[in-house]
Amino acid sequence: MARKILEPIDIKGMKLKNRIAFGPILNMPVDPEGFVTSETVRWFEERAQGGVGFIMTGTLIGLPPDAICKNAPVMSEAGANVYDDKYIPGWAKLIDVVHSYDVKIAGQIAGPGPMMAEGPSPSPYPDQDSPAFGLFDLLAGTILPVEEITHERMEMMKGYLAAAAGRIKAAGFDGVELHCAHGGANLHASFLSPYYNKRTDQYGGSWENRIRFVIETIEAIRKVVGSNYPLFVRLSANELLGERGITLEATAKYIVPALEKAGVDAIDVSQGSVLHSMEGMAPPLYYPRGCFIEHAAAIKKATNLPVIGVGRILDLDMAEQFLEQGKADIIYLASQLGADPETPKKYFEGRQEEIRKCIGCKPILCSTPCTINYDSEVDRILLTPAEIKKKVLVIGGGVGGMEAARIAALRGHDVTLMEKESELGGTVSALSRTKLTHEFKNIVTYLGMQMKKLKVDVRVCKEATAADVDDIKPDVVIVACGASMVIPDIAKDKPGVMDHLKACREPEAVGQRVVIWGLAAAELALSLAKEGKEVTIIGSGEKTTLGGAWVQGVRQLYILRKLTDIPLARETREAERLQNPQALFSLKVEGIGPEGVKITDKEGNEKTLPFDSLIISRQRAANDSLFKALQGKVKEVYKIGDCDRVRAIKNAIWSANEVARKI
Ligand SMILES: Cc1cc2nc3c(=O)[nH]c(=O)nc-3n(C[C@H](O)[C@H](O)[C@H](O)COP(=O)(O)O)c2cc1C
Repeated sequence: MARKILEPIDIKGMKLKNRIAFGPILNMPVDPEGFVTSETVRWFEERAQGGVGFIMTGTLIGLPPDAICKNAPVMSEAGANVYDDKYIPGWAKLIDVVHSYDVKIAGQIAGPGPMMAEGPSPSPYPDQDSPAFGLFDLLAGTILPVEEITHERMEMMKGYLAAAAGRIKAAGFDGVELHCAHGGANLHASFLSPYYNKRTDQYGGSWENRIRFVIETIEAIRKVVGSNYPLFVRLSANELLGERGITLEATAKYIVPALEKAGVDAIDVSQGSVLHSMEGMAPPLYYPRGCFIEHAAAIKKATNLPVIGVGRILDLDMAEQFLEQGKADIIYLASQLGADPETPKKYFEGRQEEIRKCIGCKPILCSTPCTINYDSEVDRILLTPAEIKKKVLVIGGGVGGMEAARIAALRGHDVTLMEKESELGGTVSALSRTKLTHEFKNIVTYLGMQMKKLKVDVRVCKEATAADVDDIKPDVVIVACGASMVIPDIAKDKPGVMDHLKACREPEAVGQRVVIWGLAAAELALSLAKEGKEVTIIGSGEKTTLGGAWVQGVRQLYILRKLTDIPLARETREAERLQNPQALFSLKVEGIGPEGVKITDKEGNEKTLPFDSLIISRQRAANDSLFKALQGKVKEVYKIGDCDRVRAIKNAIWSANEVARKI
């Protein structure tokens, strides 16, 4: 059982009851004008109640809208604000709630960087080997022009941030953090970065000069909050741009000692840059758990200040180990607390198996709502005890079916679940058998445990029929039979052809030379290549359709780096591009024969790709025949998940809740 996690820690008089904290996540629910609402309070209260000792808010907006660069792109979503005194009362109420759980909370502030059209130097950045092209360019289809910030506007930024820190203190926050991480998103981070900062004045060139703006801002904040108020700084210890950006060595040698000298009280160690290595900053499931804790460990060696470590930590045994090894003094969980805000509490109470672990899917709006946690939805249907206890039959034990069974059982219904396969989990379980998406197993494991805990009558190896329904006589049937791959006529009954899920479930059936037909299966392609297969993935779409609708945001960035020549700047860009799998775009499949798959490209060039296995990953059709057969036979019959419409994991979980919370 945890020892180190439960050790209190004192940061300039701020006493934390334990070493597990909620890391900053921008997507806090607030109203359209950036005021705290009851949903904001709920968001933080759930985390406080869930057992963390400390909370760092996501970035709070410290600048009034008219102070932001006039060329900044219009942000559609309002953020949480602290740029005016009118925001203080809302935060004060929220902080009282957090404090009632003996949890401390600090507010993070930042200056907007090149992503908001203003930075230390203008774009395009001089280093032409590293084109300024990243996730936002990919989304917007354009490269943003960036203006060089003037000394006058730098003074103004310092003033606004210091005033915002004053409001943070006035609202009752226990501390403030100056966010200096994540490169292009952040003004101070980009001043630190040799990649963004090419200035020749006293703010550019040497490390001493590049750090100057951060130090001056800290001094301005100190003047307002005083010397006894906890002040944290967040850094990208490694910007993931090699020698062109901030390296771990430079952070340890120059930046951290300068911050310590300037009177900072804790260093919060992140990595990456929003514009160029977003999947490094918010690593998705492809990266190992705890993937950048070594940065925190290196910084700890360079300072006596408390150091915070973060990055794909879901497991508190891992957090305990990192703390015991002295790699960090505090561990942040960020995405994990979207999946299960009660993670620490369950761990401390010895209920680890009840923790719903993050699957690392990292959509851009991670946590609001979280793909696997319907309760994180603002417009959710509340979970209330059922008025009338009903006999509920769920047909299909994928994640949608299990979630429906879980909710129905929690509400007091008598629930039976039938699954035709020998194991539960359906499509998600099959996908979790491949290397890249193995974390999908987390939601299958969680729901499987819940079936036992809630005593759902689970019957596996049982394909339900209309006759079974007649026998059981349920009041409600929820059909969650998923969807099946449509095998195109030209591939039907050809040797070596199999569908995506069979390839996942029966890896031994997959031959050495693999062709995957369907660009959506990029994760499978990468997984099979990792296992040593020679893989070609083909499809009619363009490069940016790789991964299809399932793979977006930081996952898409990773996939595009590995499989295309799109110049997504990053230190190891060239090295990251893989020869295997090979991806071929914008082509037509003309035929399939013993010699292979015959394709033609846009120019009409023909080619034949030999294969041992041809994996089809294209259209899927809903398995809704039982749903149709039950119409008029049962009073209440619903279909959910892929059986209703083929979509992502989130839709399966959502549709399950929307039905099971109403019956
Ligand atoms: C949706 C999202 C929003 C984030 N917002 C912020 C932010 O406002 N400030 C910040 O410093 N880091 C932010 N981060 C980074 C996280 O604090 C954290 O360092 C990162 O997600 C890695 O931790 P995790 O793997 O536990 O999620 C954000 C990450 C995500 C996924």
